[in-house]
Amino acid sequence: MSKSQIRIEQAVGNPDRIVGTILRTLPEYFGFESAIVDYCENARDEKYTTFVALSENADAMGFAMMVLNSDTTAELWVMGVLPAFHSRGIGARLVEAVETEARKRACKYLLVKTIGPSQNDPNFLKTFKFYLKQGFELLMECDFLWAGSSCALLLKKL
Ligand SMILES: CC(C)(COP(=O)(O)OP(=O)(O)OC[C@H]1O[C@@H](n2cnc3c(N)ncnc32)[C@H](O)[C@@H]1OP(=O)(O)O)[C@@H](O)C(=O)NCCC(=O)NCCS
Repeated sequence: MSKSQIRIEQAVGNPDRIVGTILRTLPEYFGFESAIVDYCENARDEKYTTFVALSENADAMGFAMMVLNSDTTAELWVMGVLPAFHSRGIGARLVEAVETEARKRACKYLLVKTIGPSQNDPNFLKTFKFYLKQGFELLMECDFLWAGSSCALLLKKL
């Protein structure tokens, strides 16, 4: 699939269904059903904006959700791509869409939180590398935000 065959759109209607469906295909990353339910609730909340990556047949292959944290900073709240479509450029296109929206809203920074590299989780190490590749820099890693997990805060200047 070439990058031009991936269509990114703001999800309207029922973004929570797309979010839930995709997150449930990623149990190594999103193993708690309660967390998935929370993300679905976020998707229904108008404070959050959800972008979806669509195939030529209009099937959802991935999504990214963003929220404004302040006048200057947007947060990439959660994203996921169906496993069968990993490493085809979909995640990068979704981050691009979030950045464009954040700039439109006059944000200077894009923040993302993920499991920190010190936790040595092989799956989240991949996610961490993906964010570095998208131009994020590690601000700090801390153990007080998420109970029992290390949280890495990464920032990208827009
Ligand atoms: C992280 C994730 C969203 C990335 O999406 P993706 O569509 O697989 O990523 P892309 O194909 O767009 O990769 C973009 C770039 O990052 C690089 N990249 C992707 N995975 C990588 C990895 N494991 N290690 C190093 N670089 C990586 C790719 O090489 C690519 O670079 P290129 O454009 O030079 O080829 C996806 O793998 C995923 O859904 N992971 C599980 C859920 C998750 O971690 N969500 C985020 C937590 S909130």
